Amino acid sequence: MTFSRRQFFKTSTGAALAIPLMASLDIDPCEAATGVNYDLSMANPEGAIRLNFNENALGPSPLAVEGAKAGLAEGARYALGGLLKPLIGEHLGIDKDWILMGTGSTELQRLAPISHLQGGGNVVSGYETWGGGLVVADNMGADVKRIPLIKDNGYSFDIDRMLAAVDADTKIFLIVSPNNPTGATAPYAQLKRVADSLPKDVLFVIDEAYADYLPDSFKTGLDLIKEGYSNVLVTRTFSKAHAMAGLRSGYGVAHPDILAKIAKFGCGPASTSIVVFGAVQGALADMEHARKSRAHVEECRAYYQGEAKKLGITSVSGVPPFILFEMGERSEALVSELRARKILISNGKSWNMPNYIRISYGLESENEAFFKAFREII
Ligand SMILES: Cc1ncc(COP(=O)(O)O)c(C=O)c1O
Repeated sequence: MTFSRRQFFKTSTGAALAIPLMASLDIDPCEAATGVNYDLSMANPEGAIRLNFNENALGPSPLAVEGAKAGLAEGARYALGGLLKPLIGEHLGIDKDWILMGTGSTELQRLAPISHLQGGGNVVSGYETWGGGLVVADNMGADVKRIPLIKDNGYSFDIDRMLAAVDADTKIFLIVSPNNPTGATAPYAQLKRVADSLPKDVLFVIDEAYADYLPDSFKTGLDLIKEGYSNVLVTRTFSKAHAMAGLRSGYGVAHPDILAKIAKFGCGPASTSIVVFGAVQGALADMEHARKSRAHVEECRAYYQGEAKKLGITSVSGVPPFILFEMGERSEALVSELRARKILISNGKSWNMPNYIRISYGLESENEAFFKAFREII
């Protein structure tokens, strides 16, 4: 069957969202190509319970899947990812020209140092934190000042020390909020204090990959941008609450001048695949699905916290879809022992928290399987 991209775009953004064209598509590439073994296991043991990568076990919205299938049928065509910007802009309440699409938010995070450290300069960041862009800054030879979180204060960001680390050579100031792996979230007053204190030529990057898990009324870096701060870059993603990690779609929100500087190095006009192009439209049309993810995560958090308490284990968590357990020197061995039972979790040694394990929440049955095995091992 055929349909034009324009027609698809119109159809799938309508209020009723019937998506009649997509609904009538019934494509299963695995079925169509006989004799080929499509291995999507990622080298994990068969039947593994994957609680290691902060993925969303609920899976994408059915509308996102339909959109992806519709995109797949148009796979011979380039997708103009920029056409998604008005939809995202409407969703965020921000002008489309302040949005740049990326292949996951990681692309934006990595391009921030590439575009802003061309003439040298240093980076100031909270730590421990997810550092997709920090690795690039390290590889560029930049001095990355990693300022530890305040453990005794809920792993909050040490804003005083972070601001004190800013000097004439600082080009990027990074906060991941809500943070991975600790779950700490910077209150708006803190973000505003940073934005007010930073020299105007320092790019304030706020990674908001987990912002969809915050209560609706919670103010974030996005509100700074709406209030006119022109040196702030917020990155967001469809990987988490929208459960589209494997589809790779994220975006940056910032003043168009910042986006133009970043776009010199990546996030090109055809960098969004047409499968993603369809999927994002479906995802935005089904925000209820993202809200369900948030509710699921809230339930999981209460369950994991409760079980940890019963076992006398110290846990660290916030709004994101994962929790840390403090397991001391046994942490690494525990990860291996669980792996042997096909339950995959992470050890914090790569984020300088070797005494912790991180478990991403799964489906109810997966969470129960984790605790069953965990109780037997510890
Ligand atoms: C804080 C944070 N930012 C970004 C990412 C990656 O996001 P994306 O899939 O949009 O590249 C992750 C992945 O776990 C993350 O934890």
